[in-house]
Amino acid sequence: MMGLSITSKILKSHLIEGNLYPGEQVLVSVDQTLGHDLTGIMAAQVLESVQPEKLSTEVSVFYCDHNTLAVSSENADDHMYLKTAAERYGVYFSKPGNGICHFLHCQRFAKPGKIMLGADSHTPTSGALGMLSIGSGGLTVAKGMLGEGFRMTTPKVINIRLTGRLNPGVAAKDIALEALRILTVKGGIGAIIEYTGEGVKTLSVPERATLANMSIELGATTGIFPSDEVTYEYMKAQEREDSWIELLPDEDAAYDRTIEIDLGELEPLVARPHMPDLVSTAREVSSVRPNSVFIGSCTNASYSDILKASKILKGHKVHKDIDLTVAPGSKQVLEHLIKDGVLADLVESGARILECACGPCIGIGQVPCANGIAVRTSNRNFPGRSGSQSASVYLASPETAAATAITGHITDVRDMMDAGILADCSEPVTYKIDDSSFIRPEDVSNPKDVKVIKGENISDLPMRGALRDRIEAVSVIKLGDNITTDDIIPGGSSILQFIANIPKFAEFTFCYTDETFVDRIKKLKNSVIIGGENYGQGSSREHAAMLPMYFGTEVVFAKSFARIHKENLINYGILPLVFKDKEDYDRIDMNDTFVIENVLLQADSGEVTVKVPGKGLEFKTALEVSPYDLKVLKEGGALNYLRNK
Ligand code: F3S
Repeated sequence: MMGLSITSKILKSHLIEGNLYPGEQVLVSVDQTLGHDLTGIMAAQVLESVQPEKLSTEVSVFYCDHNTLAVSSENADDHMYLKTAAERYGVYFSKPGNGICHFLHCQRFAKPGKIMLGADSHTPTSGALGMLSIGSGGLTVAKGMLGEGFRMTTPKVINIRLTGRLNPGVAAKDIALEALRILTVKGGIGAIIEYTGEGVKTLSVPERATLANMSIELGATTGIFPSDEVTYEYMKAQEREDSWIELLPDEDAAYDRTIEIDLGELEPLVARPHMPDLVSTAREVSSVRPNSVFIGSCTNASYSDILKASKILKGHKVHKDIDLTVAPGSKQVLEHLIKDGVLADLVESGARILECACGPCIGIGQVPCANGIAVRTSNRNFPGRSGSQSASVYLASPETAAATAITGHITDVRDMMDAGILADCSEPVTYKIDDSSFIRPEDVSNPKDVKVIKGENISDLPMRGALRDRIEAVSVIKLGDNITTDDIIPGGSSILQFIANIPKFAEFTFCYTDETFVDRIKKLKNSVIIGGENYGQGSSREHAAMLPMYFGTEVVFAKSFARIHKENLINYGILPLVFKDKEDYDRIDMNDTFVIENVLLQADSGEVTVKVPGKGLEFKTALEVSPYDLKVLKEGGALNYLRNK
């Protein structure tokens, strides 16, 4: 019998249902959750509709860090709603300016050996402290808060063994980019990345956070580090050593795959547009001349990240063609930078200091010019991510970014100065602890008396009744293969600003695919959607299921479903039925009426017969769901299920 990995140890200690065999569904308990001012709204709306007496999690936090500037009253409505809902239901609320959710969570809440669900894809950042931290949708996170645990497929575990030590001028970001070069953006799919080896001991917690953060770019479920003496010292410096436990893999731990990276062999790397795994050395792309450089984001905004950038910039001026912005990861980091004079050095060099928030990482400010070139320390460089479709974004370490800001072209810092000046850039030995920008549950004396303030931009979540035993509904749209959740409900700030205002948001359903969709579905009481292969692929956007439900869609027929979208359809009480004979897809059309008799009995059997009376046609479909999902579907979706419990 082989020993256990860190991942297996944590999953085992949280197992509620199932067996930990790769590919098997398990249910695990959830200790902590996080959400923010875009995704946390959904979790808050779920809490509102369920009205729980008490949350099951030890810590749940809503962070205001994405849309902090509140440039419209819609944004301000969202913030007020999130704050008052947090106060009402026992959730910590982090005020704008306190910092970026993942960064702050590492500082103040993450605990080795625990499981966290976060409504954001970069939730894995807290894996830096040995906590299994998984990103998901707002409804799934709310279920975790309400004691429903988290259902997942037992992952594979990929071991990245680090040996050696980084040379000055080479950073944790370069390890993350090297891992991407080896594994690509698909290499971690279905797996958790576990970082081990002697090299781990040489990395600080913020450096580990950079790597854990970018596990998601590898396609992995999450990434995790051991909890060792370095973790202890970090938690002690944050006055949280009481929550520390040692957590190491067994010496003979079994892994599905092991990759070795010798830190001493690495050199400064850069990800080229438009994928994080298009990796070159900084020297190979030294002819690239950006217009802007951004140092910040949940990937690279620690004290030592910004200190290193300032040491490189000190005594130099930012190049005339470059706009350099720096956003510290948290108020704690900012205060240390001010106290140690680092901020003054940055300002003197010509850097602009932004508030402690996501900012340019999601195109909130500093959007590159048309066809602009940006160097950023963030984690993604997909087209449009920066707020400009035509911009080209290169991802790099703070050291490479700072050197580039001086020379005006992508620069390996070792080519312009003695990288030895970076040797002594460690984190503070003790941090200044000031949690006054959190509103803690204990700060609210009578939570039940708190009025949740819903501005005009906040609506209730739509609800539906229990699954009907006889469905009669008309097909409103027939789609081809590979329809994405973006096709169903597109992104973009002009649309996403209504994310909490369901009636308004719903008006954009399928708006780029079929502009008559909304008018037509509004005329129908009950509807079905017909999809092809891989229906609902792409981002996990749960509104792609919620909005059709809002309009009365009861069934989606498809040749196959993307995994997360199928989960979302179930969560919103829509039957995901797969054609048993794919040719039946060709026999049915828009405006056909479909009848399903004895729905409840048929659902139990997993085979559902559908009639199309107008065509004298009958065809068979499969309902492939777990017993738990079946219960949820019969109740009319997860919201009903939770309310009825
Ligand atoms: Fe924020 Fe960008 Fe991270 S949007 S949470 S800084 S990936």
